[in-house]
Amino acid sequence: MRQSAWVLTHVFYDLELRVKISVIGAGYVGLVTGACLAEIGHEVVCTDNDPAKLKILESGGVPIYEPGLDKLLAKARKKNLIRYCSNTAEAVAAGDAIFICVGTPPLPDGATDLSAIDHVARTIATEARSPKLVVEKSTVPARTGQELKRALSVYGRKSSVTFRVASNPEFLREGTAIEDFLHPDRIVVGVEDDTAEAQLREIYRPVLERKFNCPVHSPACPEAPAPAWLVTTINSAELIKHASNSFLALKISYANMVADLAERLGADIEEVMKAVGMDPRIGKHFLNAGLGFGGFCLPKDLQAFVHLAKSSGADFTMLEEAEKINRKRIERFVEKIRKAVWVLRDKQLGVLGLAFKPNTDDIRFAPAMDLVRSLLAEGARVRAYDPEAMEKARTVVPQIEYAKSAYEAAQDSEALLIATEWEEFRKLDWERIRDAMAHPLILDGRNFLSPQKMRELGFEYHCFGRPD
Ligand code: UDX
Repeated sequence: MRQSAWVLTHVFYDLELRVKISVIGAGYVGLVTGACLAEIGHEVVCTDNDPAKLKILESGGVPIYEPGLDKLLAKARKKNLIRYCSNTAEAVAAGDAIFICVGTPPLPDGATDLSAIDHVARTIATEARSPKLVVEKSTVPARTGQELKRALSVYGRKSSVTFRVASNPEFLREGTAIEDFLHPDRIVVGVEDDTAEAQLREIYRPVLERKFNCPVHSPACPEAPAPAWLVTTINSAELIKHASNSFLALKISYANMVADLAERLGADIEEVMKAVGMDPRIGKHFLNAGLGFGGFCLPKDLQAFVHLAKSSGADFTMLEEAEKINRKRIERFVEKIRKAVWVLRDKQLGVLGLAFKPNTDDIRFAPAMDLVRSLLAEGARVRAYDPEAMEKARTVVPQIEYAKSAYEAAQDSEALLIATEWEEFRKLDWERIRDAMAHPLILDGRNFLSPQKMRELGFEYHCFGRPD
């Protein structure tokens, strides 16, 4: 009965099936979620506890770099479908559905810090005056939904408001997050009853029925199949997120482990993984060997999953090994650099790429940043260039030189290290780079360039898992 009332209110209240949604947390996930929910026609209020972030948003700016996000937010603003609000209580009041997108950072022991979720639960419970669907978007360990439900009832014990809790994990990759939101492979909704499912289905209907003009215009858009709609328990939905990201991490570490062996045996990891990935049971993605995985999701989710398993008495040694392999990638790369350059102290090294992957300015847990720190510890002089991430990098590692271009980074360097595979690096004038360097030596930490082409151009070229 309640289910149809919620849905019908929205059907009849607004012929466009507009749902009022609050998004709490204006980070990568919150902003992309808010912008995309507005893009598919909902009315979004976005809040964050960082006033500086809201100020940037209010003035039409975007506090993060994500391709296409600026345009989407500007469009939503123009249509009055998104507004920003510093008062969380006001934001809570505005939405019938509340998407929790706050940070869930790792604690020193690998566990997940859920204090921001707890804080939001308290605000929702004490400020809500009408029924709310509370949706976990942030990545959280299994059973958080249960705790969230309990917190809502404890903090809201003096109120008669009904809360429904659901888990709707995000699978957004930085750099393609908008496309991932609008054309997902699957939408996972962990719910406790049909009402919550119906409410979420209403919200995602345009994505499920592909009823919106895609603003991304990627070649895949017209053919992209409708996403799978997966209804699970809340515990399963939470587990799906950790299990997915940890499996991706495992694939990368597996490729890196095989790359080390390929190198010793004189095989070529690119040839090997190309053939391995052609088996549809394995799949071709996430088999690129190199400096390993970074970013704010894969390393922390893997750690959190291992911690969750340990505290539940399950043996996740396999994932601990995947983590160990990943940690050692930088060490392996520095060994290669040492082998090619000899003593690193006082040597000038150029580094191309600082972001944890291309098309983002995010340097959190970036292998490139770890590499720079290791080189500094060895006494090398580093001159780095990244198309988007230098502003952020400068705030955490101010002691290196930041170049205005890849050419400037290469100038007089004794080696050029590729740490992030930005597409624009492929198109560089490599002859100009060769002539600018003190010694034409490339160490490619992402197996990004063609060894044959580089050697033909006169470079000494080394990478991972391919014969020298
Ligand atoms: C990841 C998940 O892919 C996404 O589904 C989830 O919701 C958030 O976490 P993201 O952190 O944006 O997304 O990065 P991703 O594209 O997964 O790359 C993670 C890291 O793995 C990067 O450092 C990348 O360079 C590295 N990587 C990726 C490899 O080293 N080899 C590969 O083959 C693929």
